[in-house]
This record gives sequence, C-alpha cells and structure tokens, in this order.
Amino acid sequence: PCFSVVIPAAGIGKRVGADIPKQYLTVLDSTIIEHTLKPFIEHADIQRVVVSVSEDDQWFAHLKVATHPKLTVVKGGKERVDSVLSALKALPETDYVLVHDAARPCIQSSDIDKLMAHARETNSGAMLAYRVRDTMKRSDQFNHIKKTVDRENLWHALTPQMFNNKQLIDAISGVQQQHLITDEASAIELAGGQVTIIEGRSDNLKVTQSEDLLLAEFYLSKFNS
Ligand code: C5P
Repeated sequence: PCFSVVIPAAGIGKRVGADIPKQYLTVLDSTIIEHTLKPFIEHADIQRVVVSVSEDDQWFAHLKVATHPKLTVVKGGKERVDSVLSALKALPETDYVLVHDAARPCIQSSDIDKLMAHARETNSGAMLAYRVRDTMKRSDQFNHIKKTVDRENLWHALTPQMFNNKQLIDAISGVQQQHLITDEASAIELAGGQVTIIEGRSDNLKVTQSEDLLLAEFYLSKFNS
C-alpha cells in the first residue's frame, strides 16, 4: 500500500509559555518540528508529507526542510481538526494517511513501521497508544473524587494515527459536533468505525508544558547517541 503523512502544525502552543509557537523552539540541534519531520521525510515507504501551518506563520518557510521535494505546505485552520482536514484535502491519492502532531518530536521510526506492518497485514488503520500506569480518578468540579476509574484497558492516545485517506475525510466531515474530535480516531469512532490500538512507546511525548522540553531533549539525545 501507499502511505502519506499529515502534520498539523498550525497551533500557537501557548501553554509552553514561549513567545513563538512551541514547534519552532530549538531542542538540541534543530527545531521541534524538524525533529518531528525527520523520520517521515527519510522513510522510504512514505510518498508525501503535508504540513499545515498557521495563516500568519513566519517560521516554517525559513527551515531547511521547507524546500524538501517530499513536502507540501498548506494553511491550517482554527482548530486542530480544521488543520488536519485542510492537509488531507491536499494529499494526492493514497491508501493510508498517518496523522502526526508537529509537537511530538520523539517519534521513532520503529513505531511508524509497526503501524505500516499492521496496514499490510490487516488492510486496516490503527493508532499508537500506551497503557495507563497510574491510578485514575474522576472528580467533580470541586476536585472531589467521584470514582476510581478501572485502568485495565485504559490507554493514552498518541500519534501517528493511520487511516484510509477518504474514510478519514468522510468521518471528519460527517461529524456534527466537531469539538468532540480531539484526534483522528475519535472521528472514526463517532462515524461508527472500528479503531485498533498498537502499543507504542511512551517516550513519544507531546510537548505541551515547558518541562516537556527538557524531557524531549533528554530522549532525543539518547536516541542520537
Ligand atoms: O495544542 P496541541 O498540543 O493539542 O496541538 C496538537 C497539534 O495540533 C500541534 O502540532 C499543533 O500545532 C496542531 N494544531 C493545528 N491547528 C490548530 C491547533 C493545533 O495544526 N488550530
């Protein structure tokens, strides 16, 4: 099968507290988004990578990777789902699309390969996730615990999430309550589709808070050594 990639990178990432969007912060030798793009750009089985950037993005065009022949850049939208949809629409005909957050720079090619192997073996999509380890509590709005949630079969959703290109466009476009779509799997679920989890690496973190930058730096330096 033919694989392509969509990278939503149109967020502001204000929870990190920097004055530029988090994907353009430098960790070790390059920006977060360049770390993120590397394993996809270099992957022999990936045909095309579409990145969606914000309308007033002043950074992407200056990156070395911006002129790579595998890359297409499109304008993102207000919410993550809008950015994903605009990138999906720019994709050429493909069997599978892997959607991966720009803010997850520690993605390893071994996890990308696991998803592709699943597609080859089963002719179906899947997403990466890792098992919940902590005891989980549900509270009310006053932080009073209402319930200890059984953590068996509970997962942290990661990206990439891999689906058939057309199935994903149809699922996202067909959902009425777009705010319920927090990842691609949720769109497929809401459309009545079945999504399989592939156990992925828990170091595939999303840079959200400033302390995540240190963790990302630590992991990236380990991977490169
Ligand atoms: O903010 P959060 O970390 O959840 O964003 C996840 C990914 O979605 C990031 O890579 C971010 O750049 C992207 N995003 C986007 N368009 C938006 C909001 C977020 O492409 N409107």
